Amino acid sequence: MSLERTYAMIKPDAVAAGNSGKIIDLIEKNGFRIVAMKKLHMTQQQGESFYGVHKERPFFKGLVTFMTEAPIVALVMEREDAIAKWRELMGATNPANAAEGTVRKLYATSIERNAAHGSDAPETAADETRFFFSASELL
Ligand code: RTP
Ligand code: MG
Repeated sequence: MSLERTYAMIKPDAVAAGNSGKIIDLIEKNGFRIVAMKKLHMTQQQGESFYGVHKERPFFKGLVTFMTEAPIVALVMEREDAIAKWRELMGATNPANAAEGTVRKLYATSIERNAAHGSDAPETAADETRFFFSASELL
């Protein structure tokens, strides 16, 4: 398989708890090359738009409140099979079901406050990357 890129976020809970550095270390130790990275505080409008696919779900309002409560770290990262490998390294959405050594097992505190985000397909990876980064920021 050739090199692939994915979009990732370290969510507000993990940034506020001082776990960004450890998560970035895990990312690099697992063979990802960081293509772009920035810390930012999502606005209400960005949160609603970014998670728009979930707008009919019961957890939508709480999800947007959580994602906009404090800064996140946004990353674009590259390796073979990056989308699947990052989702594997993040672990299951609910940390109670996440495998040992995964980001969510290590740092998530609940299914809502689950430390990290990862794109789920090539199209969403491209869309989510464009949402936060311009082409000149991808290095
Ligand atoms: P993400 O999009 O953040 O990478 O997470 P995911 O694919 O593992 O999970 P997804 O189904 O896309 O859900 C997006 C985020 O919404 C929150 N959530 N809460 N209370 C609940 O049942 C519930 N389900 C999902 C989580 O923060 C989840 O990561
Ligand atoms: Mg998702």
